[in-house]
Amino acid sequence: MSITDTPASVLERVSLPISQATGLPNTHYTSDEAFYHDRDKVIAQSWACIGFVDELEDSNAVRPIDFMGLPLLLTKDEHKQLRVFHNVCSHRGMKLVDSPCRNNGAIRCPYHSWTYANDGTLRATPNIGGHGVHSHDDFDKTANGLEEIASATWLGAIFINLAGNCVAFEDYIAPVVKQWSRFLDPGLLTNFVLSDNESQLQLTVKSNWKLAVENYLESYHLPSVHPELNRVSPLDAHYYLETFKNGAGQGSKNYRRLEVDGSSLPSVKDWPGKLANFAEYPVIYPNTFLGIHADQLFIQYLQPLSTNETAEHVRVFYYTEEACSSSFQQHRSETLAGWKNVFEEDIFAVERMQAGRHSPAYKGGAFSPVMDHPTLHFHQWVAQMLAS
Ligand code: FES
Ligand SMILES: [Fe+2]
Repeated sequence: MSITDTPASVLERVSLPISQATGLPNTHYTSDEAFYHDRDKVIAQSWACIGFVDELEDSNAVRPIDFMGLPLLLTKDEHKQLRVFHNVCSHRGMKLVDSPCRNNGAIRCPYHSWTYANDGTLRATPNIGGHGVHSHDDFDKTANGLEEIASATWLGAIFINLAGNCVAFEDYIAPVVKQWSRFLDPGLLTNFVLSDNESQLQLTVKSNWKLAVENYLESYHLPSVHPELNRVSPLDAHYYLETFKNGAGQGSKNYRRLEVDGSSLPSVKDWPGKLANFAEYPVIYPNTFLGIHADQLFIQYLQPLSTNETAEHVRVFYYTEEACSSSFQQHRSETLAGWKNVFEEDIFAVERMQAGRHSPAYKGGAFSPVMDHPTLHFHQWVAQMLAS
């Protein structure tokens, strides 16, 4: 950050009317210091997606993950309850778990064998009081369990609020759920079916995570970056969603369902006929992208790996058992291949924006007063988080 780029001055510049505003400074995309500011002041203070529930076995399982340099641990207990912890022993700070596994309900630290339950409770402290003495009056086991992180699950995905200071997850996502209620009963969103096979996709892009968000937020690049998609769902069929406190996005009035040999995937029940060709693509800040359609739903989250590298994890879901049956395998494969193609087309765009962020001639750029509202909204959201 240059000396003139205080959080307050950046907030001031991005808060100007769109025709005068400039975007976040280059250093927000290129400096390691900014990466950790993003983690601690932006991402930690909101609800970030960090994985999918089915990446752990159903019960008594642990899975370590690295999130922006933080060692975290996902656990499921014998009742299938999922929790997220800091993956560090309360004793001498050893990273507890280094590979996913099923366990018998116990997480044993390999250093001095302190042992925790999957709910984070410290259960055993062998020899803590000397040889053969496993407790000590001056040591309170209950005060030395694993440190839990606020978490929630939704649409098969796991969300965390690292700082533990955000509004409840349900309130955080309420505007998106409300928007979707035009199409379907939001209750259905907790109850749809995941296709095990033709449903997963991962990409890595050499760019800062924020550029991937900014690219997903706008449809302005559609004609030049996605010519195929643009033929089916042209720019003039796209619209921007009303921005909400923690997100923004776009929609299309011209989504065409995939056909294989004259058949298409079963739709969600009760989707209104007059909205049959609508599709919406909201972003829930900081890192969750959604794609809602009558026949499929995808969720994508970003895993920021470093200042200039980001992994994108995608899952496609279908609404009925029938859609997940072998009769629709080809439809699912082609659906996933279609999204893969679209997301791969975006890679060069975000990577070249990242390259451009090293130019001193670029000072936050300019915004189209018509096409770049969601992008500016995201810049304002980030700047506000950094300044607060
Ligand atoms: S560091 Fe874990 S038991 Fe000592
Ligand atoms: Fe795109």
